[in-house]
Amino acid sequence: MPKMFFVLPGGEKREVEAPIGLSVLEIAHKNSISLEGVCEGSLACSTCHVIVDEQYFDMLDEPTENEEDMLDLAFGLTHTSRLGCQIKISEALDGLTVKLPEATRNMMVDKKAV
Ligand code: FES
Repeated sequence: MPKMFFVLPGGEKREVEAPIGLSVLEIAHKNSISLEGVCEGSLACSTCHVIVDEQYFDMLDEPTENEEDMLDLAFGLTHTSRLGCQIKISEALDGLTVKLPEATRNMMVDKKAV
């Protein structure tokens, strides 16, 4: 079973099992790691924002345009930021390390503004 690591806002590093096919958001929730995921993976929020370790960032699938639009709204965006609900674990991602941002912007997208 692949493993992955979450670096929590205080700096603590948690190692968890990462079943293939599950998203980083689902794995966080299974392990009581507080990654919000307000829209439950439907690309309508940015509360599942994670900062991916450089080493793994290039191994991920390219983000979709929708993901990029949502990431633009994420608080504390970095060049290795992704949405946790869009990262699916594969064998190759064994050891994936993501950092939780210090804060998230809890905001559903106002459909009228899109
Ligand atoms: S949970 Fe809302 S975009 Fe990931």
